[in-house]
Amino acid sequence: MEKKVLRQPVAAVTAYDYASARLVDEAGLDVVLVGDSLAMVMQGHENTLAVTMDEMLMYTRGVRRAVRRALLVADMPFGSYVEEREGVANAVRFVKEAGAEAVKVEGGRGRAELVRRIVGAEIPVMGHIGLTPQSVHRMGGYRVQGKTMDAMEELRTDAMALEEAGCFALVLEGVPRELARVVTEELRIPTIGIGAGPDCDGQILVLHDMMTMTFSAPAKFVRRYADVAGVMREALGEYKRDVEGRRFPSDEESYHLSRETRELMKVG
Ligand code: KIV
Repeated sequence: MEKKVLRQPVAAVTAYDYASARLVDEAGLDVVLVGDSLAMVMQGHENTLAVTMDEMLMYTRGVRRAVRRALLVADMPFGSYVEEREGVANAVRFVKEAGAEAVKVEGGRGRAELVRRIVGAEIPVMGHIGLTPQSVHRMGGYRVQGKTMDAMEELRTDAMALEEAGCFALVLEGVPRELARVVTEELRIPTIGIGAGPDCDGQILVLHDMMTMTFSAPAKFVRRYADVAGVMREALGEYKRDVEGRRFPSDEESYHLSRETRELMKVG
């Protein structure tokens, strides 16, 4: 919120485990999201629908141990907030059992009452509209949303409703740049874009996409900042060759008995 007033962009990224969350936090990112995208990039599922509350809690705990300064947001998984009562109970679990500081829910004005109730339980909520991956079957695939006049109006109404309900920030995913800009101008809360162009108040990417730790062609909006898969493939190949050629481990990489023990045992 403050950054929006100061016109400073919010830099957010996902993380799902202790090591990568530590690197993200040490790099000074503002927000770490334990996204349900972990179902795809960590668990190998085709979409985000399979991951459970208990699994999300487990990943969030690991990230919690690493994050010292970024805001830690946990994603409410598919099916965990169908009923408002259970949505509040599950949001409370993220805070109580995993140390999350905020939760994210997908969906438009239909989620406004849920957002109100979670905020009423003292838990900050990040909204998420546009291309909402938990609605993949309703959307008929991962398609850019908000392309017609009607769809744009719907999305603007959703954004306003979520702000009014108390969201502290709003993810805009997979929408035309022009629409993201209008919504960003209309809201007081910051918009965090992913596939929504450069005019949002902040940006978020899935860590595995930006680091090239995925196995298919990236979406148009993904910029690859590193080729981690390439580095790992090379290192693993070299390790295998070293083991097979008996070049690993070396004597320096081995433990040794003391000279006295070696003499007693009469071994070299
Ligand atoms: O699950 C996720 O990683 C997300 C981000 C892409 C916003 O929802």
